[in-house]
Amino acid sequence: MSVAGRGQGKVAWPVTRRFCNDVVVDPIYRPGVIPDPAELSDGQVLLRTWSQDDLGCIEAASRDPVIPGGTTVPSLFSEEAGRAFVARQWGRSTSGEGLSLAITEAETGIAVGLMVLLHRQQPGVVGVGYWMLASRRRRGFTRRALSLLSPWALGLPAVARLEALVEPWNNGSVRVLEGAGFRCEGLLRAYLDLDTGCADALLYPRLRDDTEDAAR
Ligand SMILES: CC(C)(COP(=O)(O)OP(=O)(O)OC[C@H]1O[C@@H](n2cnc3c(N)ncnc32)[C@H](O)[C@@H]1OP(=O)(O)O)[C@@H](O)C(=O)NCCC(=O)NCCS
Repeated sequence: MSVAGRGQGKVAWPVTRRFCNDVVVDPIYRPGVIPDPAELSDGQVLLRTWSQDDLGCIEAASRDPVIPGGTTVPSLFSEEAGRAFVARQWGRSTSGEGLSLAITEAETGIAVGLMVLLHRQQPGVVGVGYWMLASRRRRGFTRRALSLLSPWALGLPAVARLEALVEPWNNGSVRVLEGAGFRCEGLLRAYLDLDTGCADALLYPRLRDDTEDAAR
């Protein structure tokens, strides 16, 4: 989505992204820093690369009242738009922008959500985003997925800090983060540039030495 027209004085960046209520920023490319992991699983959820067989998940996500507004999930689903979404997720790895993985139910292999890592401007800092289909929420899937992905990402030599930006009303997301060892560093006022205007954001990082127990 171009930001041109979203407000006077805005710069029309060549490529923009919005992710999980994240800020609109230029993508940062750091090829080779985040490799594709071997599949990550705890027996309940399994994280893997996206497949063109996952269009059912993307179609369900496109009907969600929140997900398309804060992500690149198409708000009007078509097979073409779904395939383009999958190709965009692959592109995050090949371009060096980050990594996007499908959260799947370990038992069935069905994709039910998304987990993404995107480089921030500061070297060593990586943003985290995620969503879960409404039909699979409140089962601990997102927290489990973040708990699997975080130590793996923080084990990479060039990644020192993961961080998420969350609107203060988003209790589910706050609980996911705190359950996965992220700690609130404070409120960033008028930090998010959303279609609806500026919004505050809680800053939730997890560093290499932070453990999940200490955050609870
Ligand atoms: C936020 C979101 C990812 C949570 O996903 P989820 O799979 O339901 O989360 P989990 O099941 O892993 O829940 C983890 C904890 O949060 C709690 N929780 C989940 N949703 C909650 C809510 N709406 N209100 C209060 N607590 C909630 C769970 O009960 C669980 O609690 P526990 O740690 O005591 O067991 C999901 O609601 C979503 O996709 N929302 C739309 C997109 C979005 O907001 N993404 C994040 C942007 S920052």
